Amino acid sequence: TPQPRLLPSTAPLPAPFTVPLPLPEVARPYRTDGTADHYELVQRAAEVEILPGLRTPVWGYGGSFPGPTIEARSGRETVVRVSNGLGVPTVTHLHGGRTPPESDGYPTDLVRPGARKDYTFPLDQRAATLWYHDHRMDYTGQQVWRGLAGFFLVRDDEEDALPLPEGERDVPLMVCDRSFAEDGSMPYPGLADRPGVREAYMGGVLGDVILVNGAPWPELRVERARYRFRLLNGSNARPYEFALAPGGTIVQIGGDGGLLAAPRRLRRVRLAPGERADVVVDFSAYRAGDLVELRNLAGEGPQGRVMRFAVGGDARDDSAIPETLSRIERLDPAKAAVTRDFAFTGGSLHGGTGWLVNDRPFDTRRVEARPRLGDTEIWRLTSDVAHPVHLHLAHFQVLSVNGERPAGPPEWKDTVELREVQTVEIITRFTGYRGRYVMHCHNLEHEDMAMMANFEVV
Ligand code: C2O
Ligand code: CU
Repeated sequence: TPQPRLLPSTAPLPAPFTVPLPLPEVARPYRTDGTADHYELVQRAAEVEILPGLRTPVWGYGGSFPGPTIEARSGRETVVRVSNGLGVPTVTHLHGGRTPPESDGYPTDLVRPGARKDYTFPLDQRAATLWYHDHRMDYTGQQVWRGLAGFFLVRDDEEDALPLPEGERDVPLMVCDRSFAEDGSMPYPGLADRPGVREAYMGGVLGDVILVNGAPWPELRVERARYRFRLLNGSNARPYEFALAPGGTIVQIGGDGGLLAAPRRLRRVRLAPGERADVVVDFSAYRAGDLVELRNLAGEGPQGRVMRFAVGGDARDDSAIPETLSRIERLDPAKAAVTRDFAFTGGSLHGGTGWLVNDRPFDTRRVEARPRLGDTEIWRLTSDVAHPVHLHLAHFQVLSVNGERPAGPPEWKDTVELREVQTVEIITRFTGYRGRYVMHCHNLEHEDMAMMANFEVV
């Protein structure tokens, strides 16, 4: 079975060193009026210093990697004007957004070099940690690898009413792996334009340095207080399993679709590409002067320290983690109008190999499912090797994994990791908009190798 393949760095990688954790800049609206907040993100090529002394070319929203964080409010229309200052077409998708089809970033809905597009997000959805990233057909892996991704946070009154850590103690962490050439650039195998390269990277592309907010092994100074971290796996193909060292509890309070029903106390948090976990760490469990590491325990290549926290002194902390976070309606399988099957497997694509849904490569003209607006449906997803499956528009609940119902209350998700040879049943209700959307594997190389399917809400 094809495993993701490490693209080894040829730049001399320093031993883990310490830089301060960068925080993506918060975007400011250029206009705000009675009906909407308007932002502009200009996609630009830029050079940034990621490894000491080396200049790394990136493609960034606003010229930065990660792009600026958009902080939006539930129910408040947010319009993001994306101006393409790059030499290639782009597409922008709000991952986790309940978005009308014309603003959803359909893979062939290109913004050409020099052109721009207003993406309109009504944000008729609850508070959650979302992200935006490139979604150009056949090139998503490459364009995200070069830096086209950023946070999009939605807040609402329900969440604001809870005493969760906020302000400087609410920290977004985008985790993604990259590799570096001697000149500092982040090479990418060029799967779309270089025939023959594809087979070697069937499993996906891994890097050998794990970055947090675009920096290797960063450090955050913290006080002895609770912090909320919005963990996002923005990697092309690498899953993570995060744990604290020397030990400690991570309290998960939210997932892809916002707050959980109740907090989960964990030793490890697993995140497949595209997934998010909002977690709280209480640093008063440590002593001033402690260095607490966030480690990755999963996968090929780099394990160990991803970043670390330098614990400082005591501080006033009014935050708490309520035992009830949110009310989440459990979708009822008895109400499902239909059960549909989707197999995520390898197969043949244009005479070579690729990744397919129900044995067919992605075709913009073919619609695999036509759910009716308002209907509840069960989708049974099966895998050969691991595939993190993402649905646009519809948030869902996991009904079963290999026939077993997950423990605990239901949770809203938009991405679910199918492990090797699994059957995962999800249940969703199609509300919001009619139109054509995609479901695809969020291993971005698998997505680019055609593991994507259209559904149309009618
Ligand atoms: Cu985050 Cu269709 O993708
Ligand atoms: Cu996949």
